[in-house]
Amino acid sequence: MTAKINTVVFPVAGLGTRFLPATKAVPKEMLPVVDKPLIQWAVEEAAAAGCTRFVFVTAPEKGAIMKHFSPAPHYSDTLKARGKTQELELLKAGLPENAELIEVHQDQPLGLGHAIWCAREAVGQAPFAVILPDDMVQHSVGCLSQMVSAHARLGGNLVAVENVPADQTHRYGVLDPAGEADGLIEIKALIEKPAPAEAPSTLAIIGRYIFDSEIMNTLSRAIAAEETGAGGEFQITDAMSQLIGQVPLHGLRFQGTRYDCGNRDGFLEANVAFSLAQAQESGNKSLQSKLRRLLD
Ligand code: UTP
Repeated sequence: MTAKINTVVFPVAGLGTRFLPATKAVPKEMLPVVDKPLIQWAVEEAAAAGCTRFVFVTAPEKGAIMKHFSPAPHYSDTLKARGKTQELELLKAGLPENAELIEVHQDQPLGLGHAIWCAREAVGQAPFAVILPDDMVQHSVGCLSQMVSAHARLGGNLVAVENVPADQTHRYGVLDPAGEADGLIEIKALIEKPAPAEAPSTLAIIGRYIFDSEIMNTLSRAIAAEETGAGGEFQITDAMSQLIGQVPLHGLRFQGTRYDCGNRDGFLEANVAFSLAQAQESGNKSLQSKLRRLLD
């Protein structure tokens, strides 16, 4: 039986250049899907998976993210005085009662591997999860909950994977699979952003990970030696690759539909799909038929 996953890291210090000008003053992770910012959807997914320690790797100019999870007396005082109990609940921003929030800074966007390494002291020696809030997965059981169940059996490093179109491999970390059983893929190698002709498969890693704490030592060594990877950034896939053979590495074919909210088309699709789910819950038939037409 492996350790429970208490800690989740949210790397949210990136520039969000694909969403300019929207992200000039508003962090990408604060853009709303329906009525909640991307980062809140991610926090709710982690809380549903049992996490209680939430580590945000932010940048000094992205203060709106921590503000979203901080007390807001100007709202709470007024809402209390007006007896607006439902709206007061919304101010909790999806955090569970026992949540511990930790903020660390990444001073320069040197890549995902570097962002995760910035959380090393907050993470300590226990295994931990990472969620990239701009990847959203829609399913009745959250993607991280599915991963936590698989990790309890397997331990080691675990990534969420799905097949992507063959001409899109250059946008992802791609697996060289050794074998597959029950949706779990044993990984023998990883390549970051391969051109379609060089890709060993079309199985790509999406923004959900569970790591053995050993990953932090591997990242420390790469950063000390200034060993950057694709795009001149410190890549998390390089650190995972180095641990193959020492720490088991598996990919989970998760259940659900993923939306890449880091680009405009995926973000718009997610808004329609998640609105449709809410319209189904509330029984709003006319909105359901309008949204279905948009998705077709
Ligand atoms: P992305 O590459 O999708 O985000 O990183 P980005 O760099 O902000 O966006 P573009 O490409 O410029 O449009 C995925 C996640 O990793 C974080 C981002 O904030 C995002 O949540 N990230 C990325 C960091 O925290 N630090 C980095 O150095 C890079």
